[in-house]
Amino acid sequence: MRTTLLRGLAVAGASVAVAVALATPPAAAQVHGLDIHYVPTPTEVVSAMLDMAGVKPSDVVYDLGSGDGRIPIEAARQRGATGVGIELDPALVKLAKAGATQAGVQQRVRFARADIFKTDLSKATVVTLYLSPTTNLRLRDKLRRELAPGSRVVSHRFDMGDWTPDEERVVNGIHVFLWTIQPR
Ligand SMILES: C[S@@+](CC[C@H](N)C(=O)[O-])C[C@H]1O[C@@H](n2cnc3c(N)ncnc32)[C@H](O)[C@@H]1O
Repeated sequence: MRTTLLRGLAVAGASVAVAVALATPPAAAQVHGLDIHYVPTPTEVVSAMLDMAGVKPSDVVYDLGSGDGRIPIEAARQRGATGVGIELDPALVKLAKAGATQAGVQQRVRFARADIFKTDLSKATVVTLYLSPTTNLRLRDKLRRELAPGSRVVSHRFDMGDWTPDEERVVNGIHVFLWTIQPR
């Protein structure tokens, strides 16, 4: 009787474990080192970010934490620029590569599975961000050090502390900020 009860409990426990595992989003739960989880930028905000930065075909646009790749893909598709996405989550990198192929811009866009804090940004002429207030602050020195003067930084929703923006726009209630890297 006691053995049957214990066996019943073990089976029930295993079923709960399977149910929890199935209910957990596969990628986000397993990726270590993420500074912020995935939330996509709405399409109209993507277009505003590219517009504010004045993205043109000669630009190299790095999206730090690129999610499904929509910003680099649109930089290539709408503006003819080169797009680079840096993303820690391998499932999102895969999705972004498929998205670039689907949009027909795979020749002008690349995605790397990497930590934004360990990636060399010196080739970027435009950097786009949708991170968090603290992550933006942690990035400031790196951006100032690695980007050439005249490079633009655009951030969806979060500012850069005491950096004064060149422009701030509100798109459907969402704040977007633009800064230009000054000569050192
Ligand atoms: C709020 S989402 C923004 C996604 C995309 N940039 C967009 O605007 O649609 C932030 C992304 O940053 C990624 N991320 C967080 N910390 C990271 C890190 N240290 N290095 C690389 N990617 C990171 C997350 O996986 C997530 O996809």
